[in-house]
Amino acid sequence: MNLQRQHNEAAYRDAMGRLLVLYTQVDDLIMRACAERISTAPDAAARLGLAKQVGDEARHVVIQQEWIHKFGTGAAAVLAGPQEQAILAHFRSLGWLDFLIDMYLCVEALGSDAVEQLVPLADPGTRESLRIPLQDELDHIQFGITRLREELVRMSPETRANFLDGIPARIDRLTEAFHAMGIDVPQLFQAVGADYGELCTRLLDRRRQVLREVAEPLAA
Ligand SMILES: [Fe+2]
Ligand SMILES: [Fe+2]
Repeated sequence: MNLQRQHNEAAYRDAMGRLLVLYTQVDDLIMRACAERISTAPDAAARLGLAKQVGDEARHVVIQQEWIHKFGTGAAAVLAGPQEQAILAHFRSLGWLDFLIDMYLCVEALGSDAVEQLVPLADPGTRESLRIPLQDELDHIQFGITRLREELVRMSPETRANFLDGIPARIDRLTEAFHAMGIDVPQLFQAVGADYGELCTRLLDRRRQVLREVAEPLAA
């Protein structure tokens, strides 16, 4: 019984350590992708939103790195250098609209929802390390959704309907690309006590909710 508990505890710490590193690497990539985007953003409000986000993500990276150091399971990278470069190249290749979808619906809204689901399972120190970052992510999601809606308002009803229809497939492609990176995300989540099936169901709910937020008032 005791041995089992020790084994579970070690598996928890190892998996949580890797998830913390992954989250930190993603925040660092978001920071860099948003910083690059400032120079081509469509207007001053977008530049301001991106610049604020760059500052927030930089702060998240510092908070997380400090906690990872205290947590003590090591800071070995989960995403390899070429994978990081591929992610940055992907964001660099996108027009403003696709950038809004991939950055804010996929990475910010769905990514932080997955992290949110870890909070009740996490030890107190990890939970505290996630508090400020997760609060800020809500602002980033709001920025992305607001900007996306501004773009949608300008479209003809047909273009808008086609564009909205294409979003789920776009999210699916990005999710598949992430899973193809070879990180055993289900194993990591299960080792920290999450029910991975349940987590995916909740993510689908969240995705429907976000898509409704983007589209609904426009259809009225
Ligand atoms: Fe962040
Ligand atoms: Fe963020």
